[in-house]
Amino acid sequence: MSPTVETRDRLRIAIQKSGRLADPARALLASCGLSWRESRDRLFCYGEALPIDLLLVRDDDIPGLIADGVCDLGVVGRNVLREQDFERRRSGTPTAFRELRPLGFGACRLALAVPDDWTWTGPTQLEGRRIATTYPALLRDWLAGEGIQADVVTLSGSVEIAPRLGQADLICDLVSSGVTLAANQLKPVATLLESEAVLAGPASEFEGERAALAEMLLRRLDGALRTRHSKLLLFQAERSSIAQLLPLLPDADAPTVLQVDGADRLALQALCHGHLTWQRLEDLKRAGAQGLMVLPVESMLA
Ligand code: PRP
Ligand code: ZN
Repeated sequence: MSPTVETRDRLRIAIQKSGRLADPARALLASCGLSWRESRDRLFCYGEALPIDLLLVRDDDIPGLIADGVCDLGVVGRNVLREQDFERRRSGTPTAFRELRPLGFGACRLALAVPDDWTWTGPTQLEGRRIATTYPALLRDWLAGEGIQADVVTLSGSVEIAPRLGQADLICDLVSSGVTLAANQLKPVATLLESEAVLAGPASEFEGERAALAEMLLRRLDGALRTRHSKLLLFQAERSSIAQLLPLLPDADAPTVLQVDGADRLALQALCHGHLTWQRLEDLKRAGAQGLMVLPVESMLA
């Protein structure tokens, strides 16, 4: 019997069970209209509003679950996805997953960090050094690109204390706020990868019911991501002030313009994607905007 993937009509999304990405991942999916019934073991959540189920797992397992067809989609850090992709390439295993969308949360970077008392002069300083990491494939790829021969020490965790324990001279690890590095008397000196949470999917296209479900979810996700920080701005202005007002809205879609009270007075509505601070509203008022109103955007479908 061939090891074919079971045929399923429902879509299955893997997310981190606990950790940094767990709550924002759920919130984002919920904003796309998904809801779930929690199971007692809290590992599988049955999709109620739509035939889209959740699987709660360790983030490191997500790319493999997609590769094996156990899950269709996953929310995982780009760092994890790339590392496992590079590792598969290195061992000659075909690429089986890919990044479908950056999700705009969980930002961090994979960085080299050296003890505070090092004076960093550049990558050549790493020649012959021992570097501790949980990202050996990404690190090896970077070292090869820089033409550096160094000793990659692969650890499964607690990388930050490796220099103090004498296991390595420096480390290559994720940095978010930088608090962990500072607490371990280390400082970041080079960035290997800018990372954030991404939606990952299989390298091949979906088929049947799941293709339609995935397409719908991606469409809603794009709407949710676009409106995440978006606000609808309403105001009125004299036609003569428009030339001064529009440059103050560089992050807005082309505004809808309506005529009120004859030809000279206009009402505008603009969807703004950046932050509409009080300062910006005051600038707009000074440029001739009246009756400014900022409205939240509930949902959007392009
Ligand atoms: C990462 C990383 C560092 C820490 C850095 O671990 O391994 O330990 O975050 O964050 P900071 O710069 O804000 O201090 P994470 O919490 O993601 O856990 P994991 O490595 O076990 O997945
Ligand atoms: Zn992890």
